Amino acid sequence: MNTDEESDDFIVTPWEVEGEIDYSKLIKKFGTTPITPEMVSRIKKLTNGDLHYMIRRGLVISHRDLDWILNKYESGEKFALYTGRGPSENTHIGHLIPWQFTKWLQDKFDADLYFQLTDDEKFLLKLENSYQETTRLAYENATDVLALGFNPEKTHFIIDSEAGVKFRKIATEISKKITFSTIKGIFGFTESTNIGMIYHPAIQAAPCFYPSVLKGRNVPILIPAGIDQDPYWRATRDVAKRLGYYKPAAIHLQFTPGLEEGGKMSASKPESTIFTTDSSKLAEKKVKRAFTGGRDTIEEQKRLGGQPEKCNVFAWYRSSFESDDSLLDKRWNDCKSGTLMCGPCKQELADRVVIFLETHQAKRQELKEKVAELVIRE
Ligand code: TRP
Repeated sequence: MNTDEESDDFIVTPWEVEGEIDYSKLIKKFGTTPITPEMVSRIKKLTNGDLHYMIRRGLVISHRDLDWILNKYESGEKFALYTGRGPSENTHIGHLIPWQFTKWLQDKFDADLYFQLTDDEKFLLKLENSYQETTRLAYENATDVLALGFNPEKTHFIIDSEAGVKFRKIATEISKKITFSTIKGIFGFTESTNIGMIYHPAIQAAPCFYPSVLKGRNVPILIPAGIDQDPYWRATRDVAKRLGYYKPAAIHLQFTPGLEEGGKMSASKPESTIFTTDSSKLAEKKVKRAFTGGRDTIEEQKRLGGQPEKCNVFAWYRSSFESDDSLLDKRWNDCKSGTLMCGPCKQELADRVVIFLETHQAKRQELKEKVAELVIRE
């Protein structure tokens, strides 16, 4: 009997993230390795002392084989990055956070990025999703990726529905080595799951080996992503050796809570997040309605101080909108001591979100046509 599992009051699968997540429990359950202070100093050395704030603040929580891939890097064998997005909706802030970290990795390690858009997966996932729409969103979402400043010379998109023969062949090779019973166990598929979804893990695994096929030599792969995607890499790592490739390494990020109480940002709860296509006015309205750690009255907040530890507005500063550690600390202290009230704190976040959105939307406009050039056509 697995008592651990029974006491969980959160769910994390590639399709569902619910509840108050206990990350150390999740790491144990998934069998990944926590990021230790030693690992942090190792990364710091390799990046000339410039650590990304997500690492400094412990938002990067665990990994698989990161030490191995850094050994490779140190011995002169460069790795490529792989991450992706299921294009079921417009992009929101919650998606951008791991991609910003990915861009930092690209810059620091001079790495190629392979970015997969699983328009097929999202078409298969829900009866009401149309293929035309998920493919259109794939291009839209890819524009958001580029707008974050990835190096176009080193960024390659894989749009599943348009992927080439070599890509499909790898997926077929992978699928031959994975049984239904393995996949069923990992993903919780049932008898009524459509067979497209059952095959999908092979498609999502394929980019782990695709760069090796394209380059004609084994390329180490590092996957920065939310920890919810880890079940895919477990299956992929199991087959890598047998197919003659390196096992992909992974680095996992925490989720950022939504603006509303409980749970991560989600497109199914549009008030909980800000889409890159939202107007400034709407964005401001959403931030102002956010769940905070504030007290019931101003008088009480002045006396007792706020509760940044349970405040989603503070979480947004921490994970995205305040990169200066000392200013973040000051915000925490001012909140705790009752000098900073929720109104101005939210207003300041809203202002930053609006500035970000305006810049991002302008870049999107500029790069719209560029995406098609960066889609891999074999
Ligand atoms: N399945 C992911 C999603 O629904 C998309 C995805 C494909 C992905 N390949 C990936 C995510 C690699 C992270 C890393 O969003």
